[in-house]
Amino acid sequence: MLAEKKETLNKMNGVDRNMIGLETRAEILRWLKEDDPEAIRRLLSTADRVRALHVGDQVHFRGLIELSNLCRRACSYCGIRAPNRGVIRYRLTREEILAAADTAREMGFGTVTLQSGEDPALNLHELCETIRLIKQHTRLAVTLSIGERSRNELARLRDAGADRYLLRFETSNSDLYNAIHPPIPGQINHDRFDVLRWLDELGYEIGSGIMVGIPGETYDDLARDLELFRELNLDMIGLGPYIPHPETPMGRCMKDLDPPPDQTPNSLEMTLKVLAITRLICPDVNLPSTTALETLTPDNGYENGLACGANVIMPNLTPVKYRALYEIYPGKAGQTRMASELMRRMIDNLRTMGRKPAIGPGKSTHYLLRHAADGKGVETNGIEIDESIEP
Ligand code: 5AD
Repeated sequence: MLAEKKETLNKMNGVDRNMIGLETRAEILRWLKEDDPEAIRRLLSTADRVRALHVGDQVHFRGLIELSNLCRRACSYCGIRAPNRGVIRYRLTREEILAAADTAREMGFGTVTLQSGEDPALNLHELCETIRLIKQHTRLAVTLSIGERSRNELARLRDAGADRYLLRFETSNSDLYNAIHPPIPGQINHDRFDVLRWLDELGYEIGSGIMVGIPGETYDDLARDLELFRELNLDMIGLGPYIPHPETPMGRCMKDLDPPPDQTPNSLEMTLKVLAITRLICPDVNLPSTTALETLTPDNGYENGLACGANVIMPNLTPVKYRALYEIYPGKAGQTRMASELMRRMIDNLRTMGRKPAIGPGKSTHYLLRHAADGKGVETNGIEIDESIEP
């Protein structure tokens, strides 16, 4: 049933995609460089239509719990990098994590996302126990976003009940990636694409993504990132603008330099274009309107993303006293505002936009379809897609 619907949708999406044209790298590149406002409006509204056709009008809310801001890495863009001595470090207790998960449940969310730096002292056994307890006490789906882990660790977390995993590849340009995300000398460094493959083998719903407008990123790199989304067969894709942090090497040194001629901007318009192209290229993925986007345009960033392809929001449920300490970039939205306040705004605005909050864990339609194709049986994710549509 879902598969038949998918075929119908693919035909319709083919029509939309032909109108836009995103089959080749050259076509993607042309859209990334498009500057005619009317054409951009058409791109964004087509992505909105394709979103409605494939994943419906429901918006999924994920409660974000930032477990720890300790990190062994020295990524040149990130405010919680190990060498940043100005950061007061914290790690949540199990009680704090379970209380935040309870809040997610009380607020009607279907998922919690446990995120952290690559905290070398994060005890895996302890985390597995916490995941088990969350799954016992709530019916929440658990998403992890805790960096590069070994296959064995990922298997243990999966056994404990973790459903999904997010690991952005940040950029497809490997020279740029190695420069901004240096390997740690003397320690095991896993290739992100290997990790994504392991996650898939272990049955996780897999998410990856990028920052848009990293200094040194060209339009060609960005077009390649978008092709890679398709090739990686992702279930979830997270992307937002790069935001300079003054206490990082990248934030410090780039501000006085003239950008190279083919540098991608980290602007709102570019991020929205990339979001829209992502929805058109990967029509059935879960695609959040990210905190970085909200940070760029406070008070309507989430809505901007939802209007051009996004279908997920991740309100921050980290205990308020720690929130400002998880400063991967400055001015991060949601540092002081309670999630309940954001929810009031979203409920009002969703209604105006003809959208509604989703109920349940909100599995990725892409994940359900690829597992149905494996012959493992079809589940549903409770998404209502307009039945009246005809190819
Ligand atoms: N600007 C925007 N996004 C950032 N991230 C880290 N630092 C920054 C920054 N300065 C993003 C990365 C990472 C995710 C958790 O946060 O893409 O994967």
